[in-house]
Amino acid sequence: MTTLVLADTDPTKLAVDAIVIGVYSGDDDGKVALAAGSDSVAGAFGGNLTETLRMLGATGAVGEVTKLPSFGAVAAPMVVAVGLGAVPSSGETLRRAAGSAVRALAGNASVALVLPIGDDEVKAVAEGALLGGYRFTGYKSKPVTGQEPVRRIQLVVPDAASKVAKAATKRSATVAAAVARTRDWVNTAPNDLRPPQFADSVATAAREAGLTVQVLDEKALAKGGYGGILAVGLGSAAPPRLVRMAYEPAGARRRVALIGKGITFDTGGVSIKPAAGMWEMKSDMAGAAAVAATILAVAVLKPKVAVVAYAPMAENMASGSAYRPGDVVSMYNGKQVEVLNTDAEGRMILGDAMARACEDEPDYLFEVSTLTGGQVIALGNRIAGVMGSPALCERVRDAGDRVGEPAWPMPLPEDVRKGMDSDVADISQTNAKMDRAGHMLQGGVFLSEFVAEDVSWAHIDIAGPSYHSGEATGYWTKGGTGVPVRTLIELIEEIAGER
Ligand code: BES
Ligand code: ZN
Ligand code: MN
Repeated sequence: MTTLVLADTDPTKLAVDAIVIGVYSGDDDGKVALAAGSDSVAGAFGGNLTETLRMLGATGAVGEVTKLPSFGAVAAPMVVAVGLGAVPSSGETLRRAAGSAVRALAGNASVALVLPIGDDEVKAVAEGALLGGYRFTGYKSKPVTGQEPVRRIQLVVPDAASKVAKAATKRSATVAAAVARTRDWVNTAPNDLRPPQFADSVATAAREAGLTVQVLDEKALAKGGYGGILAVGLGSAAPPRLVRMAYEPAGARRRVALIGKGITFDTGGVSIKPAAGMWEMKSDMAGAAAVAATILAVAVLKPKVAVVAYAPMAENMASGSAYRPGDVVSMYNGKQVEVLNTDAEGRMILGDAMARACEDEPDYLFEVSTLTGGQVIALGNRIAGVMGSPALCERVRDAGDRVGEPAWPMPLPEDVRKGMDSDVADISQTNAKMDRAGHMLQGGVFLSEFVAEDVSWAHIDIAGPSYHSGEATGYWTKGGTGVPVRTLIELIEEIAGER
């Protein structure tokens, strides 16, 4: 992985492959303006830098990258202007710009970022730079030359000895590593990450991090009464798992439960999905990857709050042993669920895991899942849907805004629950009568049945934002995004501060 260090030397003297400076979009005359910090670089170009950039077509649009050779004006052979939009740039703008710049400089070993930042902005820029430098190289038989991630980033700040800046850099490295780990798991091919392998991979990392780890295999799941996880796992030759990871420091005042959906591949099962785009369902374990990576980061950051993470894992396949529409499944909390669509498998494994998590008596429960296509229809590919206790949903939204992972609160209407009354069991798995109306909400309403009464909870539907199928942009690379790891870490640290 890329390393990031602080520097406060004159950027013109830095022996790096490229210096990145910031440029704001101009006023009506189309003139761009250099951002603070770039004075010495501009001076080295004899005052012609702004005009040169303009001639090269720079507009200052957020994330726009303009490269120019330095011809010896500065120590680095290349100067790169990255667009920062209009003044002043938000934290998210800086994060995206840093990501775009580092991404565009792949193939170079060392880069210096000279952006308009003080202590408060170090976190955003460091995060953006490290995440933009992410590459998944898992399956190339020959390395792609010229695309190697930048190895060393120097972040130029006013004072490299600042305690705040140093702490922010250290935290960002841990956070970015957690996001990268999530992306790696999501990007791994589904034939290489079936439930037993995924469980091994997660459990090994968690043990190495010093967490308390427990893995329930199919026998233990049967003994424990995890009917939902077992039902979904029936169709696959690779049996299901439930991984539990605990971080319980002395003196913690609050307990947090994390639950993530770990469907290593979702064919839909007997209610099979259309073939087009089905390969993206390798990302149906993004929630499990996110909560596992989050608790791994928590083990490093050591906040004073207890965190227990659950990752239920199954492969949703169609076969002679698969569960079927019409089945009635006895869940971990004793509720009887009538299956109407085997493609609504996420809520089956999550219901079990959430009910189990409530036995640990958490104050807060966050559940993360690629649960419904309805989330993508309602909010698109960037904004997650949040359902649950209204106050906690607002906190998820606020934390998400701070870190650049937007999330929007959604209701859990009474009429949706009514429509899920089953003729034969306690509840149906979907609302057969309402069909696809309020699709995302049906998922949230179903899951609410598996949360203990006094637990403050939030269900975060990341069907859209967990996976980026378009071209890379900002600090988002193609494939897994690592959403909502940064939100979860932010929330856990916020909760650790509660008295
Ligand atoms: N994993 C899917 C949801 C999904 C869709 C995630 C698109 C990412 C992108 C989930 O298991 C699913 O199939 N949901 C169904 C629910 C329905 C059968 C009630 C859906 O959204 O159609
Ligand atoms: Zn699914
Ligand atoms: Mn499904």
